[in-house]
Amino acid sequence: MPLVWTDAMRTGSVEIDFQHRELIRQVESLHEAMRQGRGKEELARTLDFMAQYVKRHFAAEEALMERVQCPAAQENKDAHGKLIERLGELRRKFDQEGANTTLLLEMYQELSKWLANHICKVDAQLRLCLEPQGAVCAQGR
Ligand SMILES: [Fe+2]
Repeated sequence: MPLVWTDAMRTGSVEIDFQHRELIRQVESLHEAMRQGRGKEELARTLDFMAQYVKRHFAAEEALMERVQCPAAQENKDAHGKLIERLGELRRKFDQEGANTTLLLEMYQELSKWLANHICKVDAQLRLCLEPQGAVCAQGR
């Protein structure tokens, strides 16, 4: 099942939602490349992209959560730190082993699962701070 941006991922920030869509788009382009047999070439590019974009995105999101005193701010920071560590591990693996199908699958599955889970459960809590009228909806379901 491809990862798609859904309404449940909405954070109430146009900028953050845009960055999330971009992250999903990149992970899905890895999936598409795998399907077309170009996954190995795409792996290095995705690793480079993630390393750069994720840092910029995490910094923006953490600053916003702090500014609006989102209760998920610390949990969010911790989760980001773990993902950055994990991306470093994947990069080292790639440098040692080169692109292979196992690493490709591991990376796609982990990243798509992490993004879906993290955006819905942690990042979307921003919505409660940015759109207080949405709180009933977000908590009630
Ligand atoms: Fe986050």
